Amino acid sequence: MAGGSAGRVAVIGAGTMGHGIAQVAALAGYDVALVDAVPAALERAFERIRRNLDEGVARGKVEPTAREAALARLAAAPDVAAAVAGADVVIEAVPERLEVKRSVLAEAEAGAPAGALLASNTSSLSITELQSGLARPGRMLGLHFFNPVHINRLVEVVRGARTDESAVADAVAFARRLGKEPIVVADSPGFASTRLGVLLGLEAMRMVEEGVASPEAIDTAMELGYRHPMGPLKLTDLVGLDVRLDIATYLHARLGERFRPPEILRRMVAEGKLGQKTGQGFYRWEQ
Ligand code: NAI
Repeated sequence: MAGGSAGRVAVIGAGTMGHGIAQVAALAGYDVALVDAVPAALERAFERIRRNLDEGVARGKVEPTAREAALARLAAAPDVAAAVAGADVVIEAVPERLEVKRSVLAEAEAGAPAGALLASNTSSLSITELQSGLARPGRMLGLHFFNPVHINRLVEVVRGARTDESAVADAVAFARRLGKEPIVVADSPGFASTRLGVLLGLEAMRMVEEGVASPEAIDTAMELGYRHPMGPLKLTDLVGLDVRLDIATYLHARLGERFRPPEILRRMVAEGKLGQKTGQGFYRWEQ
């Protein structure tokens, strides 16, 4: 461990979630290596981190010196092997596809120290299925962050069938060190949060489809009527419609009809209306 460092963290996948995880880990004092298969995604991630930290300073939430220190602890890695070398904690935040995640986890495990905690940020995939094929499944678990990572305090720690208790304890301690509130949940499709949250989002889409109300009206109903901080359609835009479609498809196969992806979701994804990241979803977003 470098002097003054809390340890080393590797984040694989620098998209919506990966950049946020890298940011909070660096702010908490970890040396962070961030890697992505697409160089442009990595550049965009560093821009977003800088912008988030600038906003944090402007709002008095981040000390200017902490901003500088966090940026100094962040580095781009050229590949997965370089990112995970010497890591205490490895977190993958690549797309929600079982095979993609399996291959990334296998590569990460091969390059990381034997004691490293190996975590997936999956929001729905089975941790037990992700563990199969790993040499050290006991050190692998789910570490499910929420979007936007630098603001949302929840982390779901998901215990797979072969996860060691010591790994769960290490993950809980790590999440707390990042200033998060961890909850430990069993490895059931969609865990505790996604299962409920996605169902609400899918029903809201069906209501738009049926002309029950506009996206704005539906979101306002939940925000004012139920005190949700953000309505389900705005949240879908923030998460990414493609991500939501992948999750709904997976939960549909495992939990049944109530998770069938609505036609409007399929159509919007096919049209490239993926939400905030493409500028258009249920709302228009400034790029
Ligand atoms: P994203 O699409 O924004 O980012 C994924 C990144 O992974 C992309 O930059 C892509 O280039 C990179 N990538 C793809 N294959 C790779 C590989 N083999 N090696 C290295 N990088 C690779 O996706 P997002 O939204 O960040 O989601 C990532 C994970 O986090 C998914 O499992 C998702 O279910 C989960 N998640 C997403 C949330 C959200 O609000 N978007 C919330 C909580 C969890």
